[in-house]
Amino acid sequence: MNLTTSYLGLTLKNPLVPSASPLTKHLSTARELEDNGAAAVIMWSLFEEAVTAETEAMARFLDNQDTGFAEVGSGFLPQHQDFTGALDQYLDHLRKLKETLEIPVIASLNGVTSSGWIRHARSIEQAGADALELNVYYVAADIRHSGAEVEERYLNLLRELRSQIQIPINLKLSPAFSSLGHIVAAAAAAGANGVALFNRFYQPDIDIHGLRLQSTLRPSTSAETLLAMRWLAILYGRIEGLSLGATGGVHTAEDAIKLLLAGADVVHLCSVLLQHGPAQMALILNGIQEWMTEQGFESVDDFRGRVSALTVPNPADFERANYVSILDSYSSAPGVRV
Ligand SMILES: Cc1cc2nc3c(=O)[nH]c(=O)nc-3n(C[C@H](O)[C@H](O)[C@H](O)COP(=O)(O)O)c2cc1C
Repeated sequence: MNLTTSYLGLTLKNPLVPSASPLTKHLSTARELEDNGAAAVIMWSLFEEAVTAETEAMARFLDNQDTGFAEVGSGFLPQHQDFTGALDQYLDHLRKLKETLEIPVIASLNGVTSSGWIRHARSIEQAGADALELNVYYVAADIRHSGAEVEERYLNLLRELRSQIQIPINLKLSPAFSSLGHIVAAAAAAGANGVALFNRFYQPDIDIHGLRLQSTLRPSTSAETLLAMRWLAILYGRIEGLSLGATGGVHTAEDAIKLLLAGADVVHLCSVLLQHGPAQMALILNGIQEWMTEQGFESVDDFRGRVSALTVPNPADFERANYVSILDSYSSAPGVRV
């Protein structure tokens, strides 16, 4: 059975990739992921804020050394060269993952400033990453900015990065665009080698007793795959050379199979691995293989995109066509008259 898939120009042994999370922070867990079938790993994101905060803290520390602590004597103070910032730690870990694993290692970056994105992306490339995922976690909350301006910011960033680094770039995208297909096509033209649909935006909740905001990280459910499934099906085969990754809500082999049928090149997993551990990866992979045997498919290419807008008899079903019939199919609870 041939499970190989091409993703961001890399040949992967199968389509399952653990998405960005703390799971790669321990080399032993990363190794377990590989042993259980992970075809590549995506590191947790390097956050530009963390690098900047540390640099500022270091600058304050050095200033104080000259003034506030002058009387204490130099032996009391740590040596500057022992200071390993967030960036150095990230790059060190990336190098160690590369030494430990045989599968590709994809780094992830969450920048704030244009210069920060570029500087850190260059360092990540030099440290040996096989590809770079851009975690653009941006909520367009400023009502003065139009959708077109926000899109242009994404595209400028991609153009700039493309001119500075050679490794493949994957854009982890929000679903909040008014013309999603258009921005994906524009991202490809600006230099993205792939997109991951979709970044999961955490919604702040309100504590009605404390009258304040509360943030809770809730694990995803399989229902969250449906939004990406629709867009994968619509985009499959439409943008030449662009890899499609599905991220969010994959908990079972069935979830993964559906996303591949819609057109995904790879399926990312996070919550399921955090909840059940790396061995769950092997179970999902086995489930895909069992289903392929049952269906008589010999390779992933045999069925990828088989239920996409290019192949189903009525592609409009992915758009609005069945909206009314879905509403009509609703049956109310016993005793509720509608
Ligand atoms: C604890 C935790 C940490 C995460 N850290 C990152 C991160 O550093 N960068 C990133 O792009 N996504 C991060 N994510 C998001 C995941 O990569 C993934 O996109 C999201 O959880 C949806 O996938 P899932 O339904 O399989 O969990 C994190 C998710 C969790 C639960």
